[in-house]
Amino acid sequence: MDTSAPPSPHPYPLAIIGAGALGLAFAARLADSVPVAVIARDSQRAEALRQGVPVGARLRRLDVFGPNEAPAADWVIVLVKTGDTATAAATALAMRPRGVLSLQNGLVEDLLPAAGPALLAGQGVTTEGAWRDAHGVHPAGAGETLLPPGFEPVAELLVAAGFVARVAPDIAAARLAKLLVNVAINPLAALFRVPNGALLQPPHRLLLDTLVHEAWPVLHAQGLALDEAAAHARVHAVATATAGNRASMLQDVLAGRRTEIDAITGVLLKLADEAGLELPVHRAVYTLIRTLEGTAA
Ligand SMILES: NC(=O)c1ccc[n+]([C@@H]2O[C@H](COP(=O)([O-])OP(=O)(O)OC[C@H]3O[C@@H](n4cnc5c(N)ncnc54)[C@H](OP(=O)(O)O)[C@@H]3O)[C@@H](O)[C@H]2O)c1
Repeated sequence: MDTSAPPSPHPYPLAIIGAGALGLAFAARLADSVPVAVIARDSQRAEALRQGVPVGARLRRLDVFGPNEAPAADWVIVLVKTGDTATAAATALAMRPRGVLSLQNGLVEDLLPAAGPALLAGQGVTTEGAWRDAHGVHPAGAGETLLPPGFEPVAELLVAAGFVARVAPDIAAARLAKLLVNVAINPLAALFRVPNGALLQPPHRLLLDTLVHEAWPVLHAQGLALDEAAAHARVHAVATATAGNRASMLQDVLAGRRTEIDAITGVLLKLADEAGLELPVHRAVYTLIRTLEGTAA
């Protein structure tokens, strides 16, 4: 059987780096309306995926490549875990795109430090969701995707594929609001090994509210467009709406994988240091997660 990558239009209008849960969920939907190149971690993984991967109810045969065979693409979306961002960014640069968009969790700073000013690079936020297991990729309910200004062509491709997506002039505030939710819910869910909704109940609730209280001045100074009461309300609303979900950091801990704590709590602590603020509970939570990962200093 011929397992080589299919012949590609040159360049692809869109590429996704990261053939995981969210990358394949995005790629499968997009591929119905636009040619999409998917870049997997290595060529063996790419070859296996080209045989077909179940995404939702359908077996999908996508244009999957290893990083060394990555084709040119106009726009690249990065959907690797944040610990793999630097490698994925190098692959993205080699694809000579007009722009590179991260839809990862956490705050991804310096997505393309080596890129020149002609290349657009930015981070959006998405509430799309997906998970994967041995049977394939399972997209979760529909969400919304916000993109930084300049990524209008990507928003159009997403909308054409049926996504709810738009360019958000206030993307920095949206990223900070998502970071607020992530720094509060993700580490606690992972430490206590509970679904998100349990964090609203004693004894976890006290810690949840303390994390929001500590994080708020730091994020507000950065441009978070919520007062402290609204910040608490936002976190409570997300925990309620996702009450039965296992946060991604909990899934990572249970699977023995490295977590995204550095791009979440780690970035918050860095911002706090720069502002001369102490966040003792976040620092303790950060250390505990690193200890769970077996990577504590
Ligand atoms: N899943 C969700 O519902 C969701 C929702 C919102 C945001 N996010 C964010 O989206 C990002 C991806 O999450 P995910 O759940 O899709 O993670 P995932 O299932 O672990 O997928 C990441 C994929 O990237 C691959 N990869 C790693 N390094 C690579 C490289 N250098 N080049 C190409 N591929 C590489 C991994 O390969 P291996 O399989 O070999 O490790 C894996 O298949 C994370 O930042 C996450 O926080 C996820």
